[in-house]
Amino acid sequence: MARNIAVAGKGGTGKTTFAALLIRYLLEKGKKSILAVDADPNANLNEALGIPVSNFVADILEEAKDSKGVPPGMTKDMFIEYKLAQALVETERLDLLVMGRPQGPGCYCYPNDILRKHLETLSRNYQYVVIDSEAGLEHISRRIIQGVEFLFVLSDATIRGIRSAGRVRQLVEELQLPIPHMLLVVTRVQGSLNGLVPEIERTGLPLAGTISFDPLVVEYDALGRPLFDLPSSSLAVRETQRILEGLAL
Ligand SMILES: Nc1ncnc2c1ncn2[C@@H]1O[C@H](COP(=O)(O)OP(=O)(O)OP(=O)(O)O)[C@@H](O)[C@H]1O
Ligand SMILES: [Mg+2]
Repeated sequence: MARNIAVAGKGGTGKTTFAALLIRYLLEKGKKSILAVDADPNANLNEALGIPVSNFVADILEEAKDSKGVPPGMTKDMFIEYKLAQALVETERLDLLVMGRPQGPGCYCYPNDILRKHLETLSRNYQYVVIDSEAGLEHISRRIIQGVEFLFVLSDATIRGIRSAGRVRQLVEELQLPIPHMLLVVTRVQGSLNGLVPEIERTGLPLAGTISFDPLVVEYDALGRPLFDLPSSSLAVRETQRILEGLAL
């Protein structure tokens, strides 16, 4: 069974950067089979990883709402399964599945059921599944992604970011999602966190660590260079590593 690690938080807090550097850390530790799932509607994990993607799960589910296009001799279930299998991007270092933009109105219970089963079966092939999610935890809250062991809730060093992280924790509690380890990571930190400490305590989330503002991350993003290629000396790489080394991953 794969170990599921999810990253969530308010928009623009550094989720994708952290998810990419987390994957890099796992690979550097010699973990060989990793599935990255971009479950953020504003998908860009593939860019951070430097992997081109052309098939999005959301589009497959949208098409699956009607039976058009199902080839003769194939059931609708088989057809959806086949399409979902095509959405998986396989590379030498890791595989990637991109959920894509949010679904429109209409009933998705049936395709979501198939997606849930598909992910369950697919994840058996991996040691780790790393999920780049959004604050609403769409796929996790609808139990399409199940069994998350670690949830990193990211925030920038602002009161709003930290409050939003607190709401992610509340959501997990309200939905009674069984996530054993929920941890706060504050990113893009410049200076001290002192003023934020009471707000951090209010979230009830243990602080796993902080990641400093790293000009190299900005530079790589500006140039569209994969964060995978950041030098090992980069602040963000080293501090992500320090956070993860303290955990039983
Ligand atoms: N440690 C860091 N130092 C400096 N800039 C950073 C750092 N981490 C992330 N950034 C910058 O902050 C911006 C947002 O980062 P990122 O895309 O990782 O966040 P996100 O939470 O995934 O955003 P979105 O919600 O848009 O998907 C990017 O421009 C990125 O370059
Ligand atoms: Mg992102």
